[in-house]
Amino acid sequence: MLSIAQILGASDINNRRDELRGLLIFHRGQFMQLIEGQRIDLDRLLTRLRFDPRHENIRMLVDENVIGEPLGVHPMARIAVDGKVAAMIGDRPLDCLSLPQVEALFTTAAETLDLAA
Ligand SMILES: Cc1cc2nc3c(=O)[nH]c(=O)nc-3n(C[C@H](O)[C@H](O)[C@H](O)COP(=O)(O)O)c2cc1C
Repeated sequence: MLSIAQILGASDINNRRDELRGLLIFHRGQFMQLIEGQRIDLDRLLTRLRFDPRHENIRMLVDENVIGEPLGVHPMARIAVDGKVAAMIGDRPLDCLSLPQVEALFTTAAETLDLAA
């Protein structure tokens, strides 16, 4: 089992190398991650995650080309579930959010991080 600190540490090193940018939310035992980068690097990461026996139930929610500025600026940033982000999640587990809610959540999370940076 990996701790969240270990996941963030390994991801930071690997994603920096692969020029990927990520936002990670952990809430009620579930992870949700936004990850941006070149298609080939994203595919390689996904293959690694899928073949890692410590992962279960990986679901791709949205897979689309970024038009305009990417959202993420850090190799891997953890999003705190408080303030606006907590209000958007409400009482629900992450896998009960709709796709528009997920997109709005990451947009807000990225803005929150920008303000903190
Ligand atoms: C929810 C979740 C998200 C992860 N995201 C990434 C990621 O973006 N990049 C990454 O390299 N590893 C990520 N990992 C960690 C990988 O599972 C794995 O531990 C790591 O890539 C191993 O790196 P290493 O072989 O260089 O030690 C994630 C793990 C979890 C549980």
